[in-house]
Amino acid sequence: MKLLVATTNPGKLREIAGILEHAPVELVSLDDVGEIPEPEEIGLTFADNARLKALYYHRATGLPSVADDSGLEIEALDGLPGIHSARWEGSDYAVKFRKIYELLDMKGKRGSSARFVCRVALADRGEVIFESAGVIEGVIADTPRGDHGFGYDPIFLYPPLGRTTAELDRDLKATVSHRGRAFEALAVFLKSPPNGRW
Ligand code: IMP
Repeated sequence: MKLLVATTNPGKLREIAGILEHAPVELVSLDDVGEIPEPEEIGLTFADNARLKALYYHRATGLPSVADDSGLEIEALDGLPGIHSARWEGSDYAVKFRKIYELLDMKGKRGSSARFVCRVALADRGEVIFESAGVIEGVIADTPRGDHGFGYDPIFLYPPLGRTTAELDRDLKATVSHRGRAFEALAVFLKSPPNGRW
């Protein structure tokens, strides 16, 4: 069974492929299905956007399609950058990090609590047939650290391991991360769907 992983983010794709390695599906990426314009992510929540993307790519390709929507919520910034994480303050992460530290310093809260959130949706036969969620709780690191992962990983400190998620290799990050937890639930569903098929 083919499963389209509907993301244009190479960092996410690597992580998802690792987590679904043993699921009974042949993963197909957007590179394998020809040019499809990206949908506008107009949802107001991570869950809305995950559903919207999964359905959009399922309709465009006819393949069962899984999409995730994820982001970083910083408590002292009232949940920013949230669902706008990818585009908030542009696409250069050094600039984004500087802006975050500037805003946090103004509030005297550089080490604010923060969480990564991930919602996953799987669409097939014209509808969303599975959804899951994952969260990882942490704090904003004093300074950016680490070269693994992508996006905001260098500034997200995971206290139980005393490291940022950019200091964890892919497999270790997957065991603790928001995306790891949400896609593990998908892997369980794919291995044993409730009605014997999906
Ligand atoms: P999406 O592609 O619309 O879901 O946007 C996700 C954005 O959230 C990414 O581009 C990153 O900026 C951020 N993000 C989500 N998950 C992670 C993660 O695991 N590490 C670092 N940044 C993440």
